Amino acid sequence: MNPKREQQTIVVGVTGGIGAYKACELVRDLMRRGFRVKVVMTEAATRFVTPLTFRTLTGEPVAVSLWADEPDSRVHHISLAEEADVVVLAPCTANVIAKLAHGRADDMLTTTVLAAEAPVIVAPAMNTHMWRKDITQANVSALRARGFVFIEPGKGALACGDVGEGRLADPATIADAAEAEARRARDLAGVHVLVTAGPTHEPLDPVRFIGNRSSGKTGFAIAEEAARRGARVSLVTGPVSLPDPFGVEVVRVTTALQMRAAAFARFEAADVVIASAAVADFRPATFASGKIKKSDAPDAVVLARNPDILAELGEANDGRAILVGFAAETSDVVAYAREKLAAKRLDLVVANDVSGELGFETEENRVVFVSADSAEERPVLDKRVIARELLDRVAALVSARKAR
Ligand code: C5P
Repeated sequence: MNPKREQQTIVVGVTGGIGAYKACELVRDLMRRGFRVKVVMTEAATRFVTPLTFRTLTGEPVAVSLWADEPDSRVHHISLAEEADVVVLAPCTANVIAKLAHGRADDMLTTTVLAAEAPVIVAPAMNTHMWRKDITQANVSALRARGFVFIEPGKGALACGDVGEGRLADPATIADAAEAEARRARDLAGVHVLVTAGPTHEPLDPVRFIGNRSSGKTGFAIAEEAARRGARVSLVTGPVSLPDPFGVEVVRVTTALQMRAAAFARFEAADVVIASAAVADFRPATFASGKIKKSDAPDAVVLARNPDILAELGEANDGRAILVGFAAETSDVVAYAREKLAAKRLDLVVANDVSGELGFETEENRVVFVSADSAEERPVLDKRVIARELLDRVAALVSARKAR
């Protein structure tokens, strides 16, 4: 999204179902709400409604084929994906849901969705039996876990003669969801978010270190999502193998002491601090400037305590910045999170139980959002979805603080 652009763009993807005619109403509704709307259709959708209909309604070219001549030299599915503040698929067939769930991109619509970084809303419409099939439900779950927002189909008489679930949701309901996502796409505009991520490595000598298994995925997902929502983001990360998220200031450090220096250098300007780094609590008290020879191996390594960066930020905070910490525990998760909340003067703690398989190095996690007066348990979710849910709460805290 281009934060300078006033009008937001919603890309509406229409697939081949009888409900395609209702996409006309959806498009008009979105335009009435002030959005620029661009339509992309599957070949099958054009059997139900012609591209000319949408072209006339939107005043914009309608994309159908990957191979059509383009008015400019840009690759169309990529430019469409980049322009989208929100993508809405309505109606979405079982076939397209299945393709998206497997990352397939064999036409204009699926290629655009795969290339899009914007949130995707899916409004399925199909025969009841197709909707209820476990394979369809498994595909829906897979997409949900990756952050796709589903608008459940309604019940009623279907075009095939069956009565049951499968009707496309009301266009106004779909437009409401699109508007909510579009609002979310800018809810951190003007906010400076500082994120710490990854492990720290505490060197014993030039080649050996004490570290931990943190992959940095959660912190990177938070930084990326915050930037997408309009925040100015600084990401201070320990050693990880992840690429720089787009539009984020990335500061790569190695040790806890370096992380503290980099975080404090940016703290003054920060409105929000999200400390997801797994900072090593101890470092070797001495550093050997040359590699320690096998024959010289010490019997014990003397450790020195590292600073608690987040606790120090909490102490330095005058109530201006919102502070969010993480808590990885193996038991009594909420109770320990509350202790951390108070001890480090935090607004929110994202707690998770690392006694099972989830947590470090995984794509998914199960967290509890703990504040002074609430504990919200969430199901197992992709780390990107957790990032989005966390930032929903942060955005609410930011606007509450502004209103004070
Ligand atoms: O106390 P504990 O290490 O469990 O607290 C975890 C939270 O504190 C995380 O948000 C982590 O990023 C932060 N932390 C820190 N500096 C440390 C240890 C933890 O900023 N030395």
